[in-house]
Amino acid sequence: MDEQVNHLVWYPGQDLLLRDIVRAENCHLYDSEGRRYVDLESGVWCTSIGHANPRIVRTLTEQSARIAHTGFGYSNGIAQESARAILSLLGFEGGKCAFLCSGSEAVEYSVRVAQALSKRPLLMTMADSYFGAYGSASRKQEDEWFCFDWTICAACPYASECNPQCEHWAAISFDDIGGFLFEPGSSSGLVRFPPEKLIRNIVAKVKENDGLILVNEVTTGIGRTGLWFGYQHYGISPDIVALGKGIGNGYPVSVTAFVPDVIDQLGGSPIKYAQSHQNDPLGAAVAREVVQVITEEGLIERGKGIADLLLPGLKGIKDRTGKIKEIRSRGLMIALELEDDPDAPFTIQTHRELVHRGYIVGRRTNINVLRLDPILTVDEKDIEGFLEIFEVVLTDERRHD
Ligand SMILES: Cc1ncc(COP(=O)(O)O)c(C=O)c1O
Repeated sequence: MDEQVNHLVWYPGQDLLLRDIVRAENCHLYDSEGRRYVDLESGVWCTSIGHANPRIVRTLTEQSARIAHTGFGYSNGIAQESARAILSLLGFEGGKCAFLCSGSEAVEYSVRVAQALSKRPLLMTMADSYFGAYGSASRKQEDEWFCFDWTICAACPYASECNPQCEHWAAISFDDIGGFLFEPGSSSGLVRFPPEKLIRNIVAKVKENDGLILVNEVTTGIGRTGLWFGYQHYGISPDIVALGKGIGNGYPVSVTAFVPDVIDQLGGSPIKYAQSHQNDPLGAAVAREVVQVITEEGLIERGKGIADLLLPGLKGIKDRTGKIKEIRSRGLMIALELEDDPDAPFTIQTHRELVHRGYIVGRRTNINVLRLDPILTVDEKDIEGFLEIFEVVLTDERRHD
């Protein structure tokens, strides 16, 4: 590709290191010269079951040849069947869901429903959570949101008991809060997990006030954390769940799902929200197939096995090199905080060097964090290969900048 030609607008801050990827298969990307790269970040957390997964390719081909898009006045059994499968996976039988296009949209739709039903002015969330590119939850304005700083709780010696009499808790004005939007673990890609007891206490209090529990499973859902959904690690029962990214395996479909009680409260007249691809059969068919593939091929268990290989390897590298400050993980959602690196030049170089040697990992801009979010179907040999190269890259002074 001509290096001088660039007609695309890109998100700032990220290195566009590979400009000519022409083909992908499972966790492997190939450039136009046939070089192979191992994708250890699943695109942007999206290709949960692998690039060009044959069953998803078949679904896309067959469904788009039948019918891809419907209008407001006519529908299709595929969307109904897919909705039933997703609701049953969530334990939301009798509820309803909407198929949308992006994670941001699924979260925003959840928030609009909660705001429409709430009799209190604010929704609560964690100060460090990320919810998407636009909408109320992305802005977190004071007149709509109460943002809680849970880092104080994480450092609290009583976090595992979390006594709701403490000062920090007493400062939360639950009387103003009509719902809690929880992102169970990604924390803007930093992979931090708020204490379980704290979350259960918040959920109990919000529910006591008839508030709704909303969960953003855009990154943590679809097996990423070793269970189907990140909220399952907390033993809570949400009322609204937003899914995105991995549910489409790279095709842009997302889902907002509601328990029956929320649908009853909406009283048959859902909020006014329309977009062209709502409940399109193509996206719905892909989502249904992704769920079926993960179920039939036991991929959640497989992902756990990969995590059991990857984590001890990373811990060994941490001990031997002294270059990793902290490893945070749940299932196949992993953040590696490198040793102190103001403005992150070492992190940037490490990232570039890994790509140069054929391994693509995620990098958070401006901080010293690398992310690993491999595909559930990643090859074990590629994990072993990565561990070997990663240790060399962390300790080798010679770099290809
Ligand atoms: C935790 C979380 N929620 C929501 C979103 C928004 O998803 P999308 O980019 O598909 O709109 C993202 C995107 O990275 C995310 O990380």
